[in-house]
Amino acid sequence: MKLTEALGLVSFKVPQGSNSERALARCHTVEDLRRLAARRLPGSVLDYIDGGADAEHSLAGNIEAFARRRFTPVVLADVSSPDTAATVLGRQAAAPLGFAPTGYTRMIRPDGERAVARAAAGAGLPYVLSTMATTALEDLVTDSAVDRWFQLYVWKDRAKTFELVRRAADAGYRVLEVAVDTAVPGNRLRDVRNGFTIPPRLTAGSLLDIGAKPGYWTKMLRAPGLEFANLSGGPAGAGYTIENIGAQFDPAVTWADLAQLRAAWPGKLLLKGPVGPADAVRARELGVDGVHLSNHGGRQLDRTVAPAELIAPVREAVGEDFAVVVDSGIRHGADIAIAIALGADLAMVGRPYLWALAAAGEPGVVRLAELLVGQFRRTMALLGVASTAELRRRGPQLLDQGARPAVSQVPVAGPIPART
Ligand SMILES: Cc1cc2nc3c(=O)[nH]c(=O)nc-3n(C[C@H](O)[C@H](O)[C@H](O)COP(=O)(O)O)c2cc1C
Repeated sequence: MKLTEALGLVSFKVPQGSNSERALARCHTVEDLRRLAARRLPGSVLDYIDGGADAEHSLAGNIEAFARRRFTPVVLADVSSPDTAATVLGRQAAAPLGFAPTGYTRMIRPDGERAVARAAAGAGLPYVLSTMATTALEDLVTDSAVDRWFQLYVWKDRAKTFELVRRAADAGYRVLEVAVDTAVPGNRLRDVRNGFTIPPRLTAGSLLDIGAKPGYWTKMLRAPGLEFANLSGGPAGAGYTIENIGAQFDPAVTWADLAQLRAAWPGKLLLKGPVGPADAVRARELGVDGVHLSNHGGRQLDRTVAPAELIAPVREAVGEDFAVVVDSGIRHGADIAIAIALGADLAMVGRPYLWALAAAGEPGVVRLAELLVGQFRRTMALLGVASTAELRRRGPQLLDQGARPAVSQVPVAGPIPART
């Protein structure tokens, strides 16, 4: 080969865009986004996102519950334009995907909840704002036209609880999710060991970290202070912190409280937690519109059954006319397809969008939505189904019903094995 011919084979590309845009363009999976987030975040903040309760068995089990499933595709079906749209609680989403509620999101990136809501709105996906958000629920409304859901913790102070319900109704939130898995806070050992606090305190460790992650700290120190923006007051006027807030949750909440919430809330109502078939039926009898099956991403009761395993039995118990949303362990569009095939209407992610937010702000979350919806669309086409509705209808046929050994590797953010 002549030198001129060889040179003709070489193609040099002039790098386009900022460093951040180029790094984001190199992310092709949720794992890539997490790796980028790990480069940007202080270790204790990454641990706050990644961590689960106690030995993190629930966290690992959530990932395994999806990874162990196998598809049984059908062939020679026309899948030239797979339709990913899904209808959830009477409203259409671009895909059966949503963003689950997470507390203290502005600690990940100063534009926090607003950035996630804008990305969700652009992608046509629902977003759930947490009671523990760092953006006031009214402020999210003026910001974007996202399908807004609100997640409620029931406080010992019932007046405060019903005040939040009233504010969410006045602000036009469409769905209220009552979290029923937080009678007491889970034992998040990574946070305990890191001495992690909310609001963050400047300690010798965090001062050292400023040198290691200057980009993160520059953004944080320039941004308005972090607070639980939907909660006023605090014990003895001291303000809420991660240490004192758990004591405000009411461990004595019962079905009678749920009936009162049902009467007070004019919109759609869901229960969020590891709700089994019997409790789901009881909720439906009380006038609840659906369940959001979740073990809080493994952050509450360790060794809880993976919510993926609850989908089929709950669906069988409640029938078709009842919403089933699921989260905990969804890391790929194929996981969304499995959730739908098992009988869910919508799958949600928590950590993946926090990693995406840390990696690149709002464009990171936009990229995450593109990746997950793209993976879901490809999975549908390769499965031989043309729409989300068809995937729901033919689900059991498309999943291998045989038992599978559990996978031994936990791909993302599982517990770090001890050295032997
Ligand atoms: C950092 C973090 C904060 C969370 N905060 C809340 C919260 O305030 N309220 C709530 O109901 N769930 C909260 N969750 C749980 C999520 O709503 C969701 O159930 C979970 O993240 C789903 O699992 P995944 O992270 O594996 O996707 C939080 C999860 C994380 C990772």
